[in-house]
Amino acid sequence: MSYGTHKSRQLFERALASLVEGGSSPSRGPANYGDYPVFIERGAGAHIWDADGNKYLDWMMAYGALPLGHAHPSVVQAIIDVASGGTLFAAATEIEVEVAEMLRAMIPGAERVRFANTGTEAVMAAIRLARGFTGRPKFIKFEGHYHGWYDDFLVNAHPQPVASLGHPHDPVKVADSSGLNRRALEDTVVVPWNDPDAVERALDSNRGQIAAILSEPIMANMGVIPPAPGYLAGLRKLATGHGALLILDETVTGFRIAPGGCQQHYGVTADLATFGKALGAGLPVAAITGRAEIMNGFAWGGVLHYGTQNASRIGLAAARASLRELQRDKGAVFAHLWRIGEQLAAGLNTVFSETGTRAIAQGVGPMMQILFTGRPAIHNYREFCAYVDRGKYRRLALALFEHGVYMSPSAALHSVSSVAHTEEDVAFTAGAMRKVLSDGGF
Ligand SMILES: Cc1ncc(COP(=O)(O)O)c(C=O)c1O
Repeated sequence: MSYGTHKSRQLFERALASLVEGGSSPSRGPANYGDYPVFIERGAGAHIWDADGNKYLDWMMAYGALPLGHAHPSVVQAIIDVASGGTLFAAATEIEVEVAEMLRAMIPGAERVRFANTGTEAVMAAIRLARGFTGRPKFIKFEGHYHGWYDDFLVNAHPQPVASLGHPHDPVKVADSSGLNRRALEDTVVVPWNDPDAVERALDSNRGQIAAILSEPIMANMGVIPPAPGYLAGLRKLATGHGALLILDETVTGFRIAPGGCQQHYGVTADLATFGKALGAGLPVAAITGRAEIMNGFAWGGVLHYGTQNASRIGLAAARASLRELQRDKGAVFAHLWRIGEQLAAGLNTVFSETGTRAIAQGVGPMMQILFTGRPAIHNYREFCAYVDRGKYRRLALALFEHGVYMSPSAALHSVSSVAHTEEDVAFTAGAMRKVLSDGGF
């Protein structure tokens, strides 16, 4: 049967009459998908099906929210069991205590836990807490790091022409949106990542002003860029030396790289860490964790953090079921995620070298991205902006759809492995890639 997306096209035309740009986030619309996106109807394990009945092997996994794959039976059952007794009480519940205890046991430095709904909310609350605790107004954010859509973070979070970025000693601040609070641009100090000297310079020139250094531990919104050896430990030392907090945003890496995230994997304990995506196994659950002395700043609304939906019973039921699965067999799940992720990257790199394609699959264990570049590796945001052909990648991802492989069409995002992915899935993907590349144009 030949590939067609007629029903998706019709749905999109209908959507345009009701939904702005036909959807609920620009990243799911024409900005990434061309004329119209495919409409997905259902998922099971590693696969999803669209409205026209096309089946795809899904490497996107809801932006990384599904380490167990789609509709994992334990998660589905947990949701059903809890839903029949009421979905949300906005009152104290035992499951809230139980999941917080699980997080304390899993995550380094998680002396206290606070639940929120999304990664954006968690990082917003963490920054407010850092400002409240230190009494300082500014924070350091890195070029190319994405922490959600709140004003303070929407500075240099998107790829830009490299010529607009200025000197790395004094990056030109680029607002990623209209309508931002202007103080956001002033109080967010932007620094190139993977360069310890740059952080030291920024701390020196804003002495006594920096509440926190906020970093993704693995850069996961410009493809996948690992921290240079010792870099995160260096950030830890610099923060402590300057009386600033270190906040690691593990929204992407949490419950994916290791049970205790990058703090465990790289052996660096932050003052605060933020989680989202994989924590809720597909439901909106996020958390801020960290040192009790700092986290207690939330007490009695001293540093205010509210939320009708915080710690929703149904979300936490999914989280509890998922965390139990992730901790099975002494880390066997994470060994699987790493093995499949590394096999995928290696398999694709073999295809690229055999077909003479100027591309690399670059990643860390369970996360990887295909980068069209002549460089052997991409180390930071500026290299990503200068040397990665994002348009070519988008064409590739859309061509792969026709061969049953679903990867994000945005070069800035990445692919992830899940419990549901197998070695056969890796071979299938490499085969699809070979076919697409042999059709030419890349
Ligand atoms: C590192 C990081 N932090 C925060 C966020 C925001 O999370 P959410 O989309 O749940 O608000 C994202 C989303 O992609 C992210 O990648």
